[in-house]
Amino acid sequence: NCGEVLTGKHVLITAGPTQEPLDPVRYISNHSSGKMGFAVAEAAVNAGAEVTLVAGPVSLATPKGCKRIDVVTADEMLTACTQSASKADIFISTAAVADYKAVNVADNKIKKSDDELTLTFIKNPDILATISQRKDRPFCVGFAAESQNVEDYARSKLAKKNLDMIAANNITADGLGFNSDKNALHVIWNGGDKKLPATSKRELAHQLISLIATRFSSTLQ
Ligand code: C5P
Repeated sequence: NCGEVLTGKHVLITAGPTQEPLDPVRYISNHSSGKMGFAVAEAAVNAGAEVTLVAGPVSLATPKGCKRIDVVTADEMLTACTQSASKADIFISTAAVADYKAVNVADNKIKKSDDELTLTFIKNPDILATISQRKDRPFCVGFAAESQNVEDYARSKLAKKNLDMIAANNITADGLGFNSDKNALHVIWNGGDKKLPATSKRELAHQLISLIATRFSSTLQ
């Protein structure tokens, strides 16, 4: 039982992939299922928080008691987060935001012609870094899905994105991570870290929320 460690606190969470259109019928995206983020939202509700869940295109039921905002693209996700950020005490960014979007979205279906097709992409905004740069910034928690040098990359993202905490996972670990119901996390902050061993995303989310609540309340003192 989480207890009501986040009663009266507002938690903003992003989850799932984003989809970036190429033309009226096509897009680029990734394999994020949104399961980790939805589990975190459920755990935050159980901890007594008021939860806003900004979700990319996923096929998951909304956890009981949270306010869900559905978005498709990274730009839409940024707008939704910016609008909710000022009332948020804690921001947890679990979304697998597409790194790039098409420079031009074709008005009509791109027709098959040459053997090669070249499309130009431009970087999407970094939602987490944008929120963490605000003057009235919430306590910011990022995720780092890595395939190598997991801890090093996570620590550099913690610093570079100006985060309070980062939850790293190794996406190459067997049966864990993307699309799986299980995961393991190495949670890192300035001055400490904790390994949360492989378990269900539900249980892991509960442990993560407890850890976030502890670190968050220590920043208030
Ligand atoms: O740099 P990288 O994508 O690995 O960083 C991962 C963290 O940053 C995650 O918490 C992810 O939700 C967030 N992120 C974001 N906007 C982006 C890219 C990543 O919020 N455009």
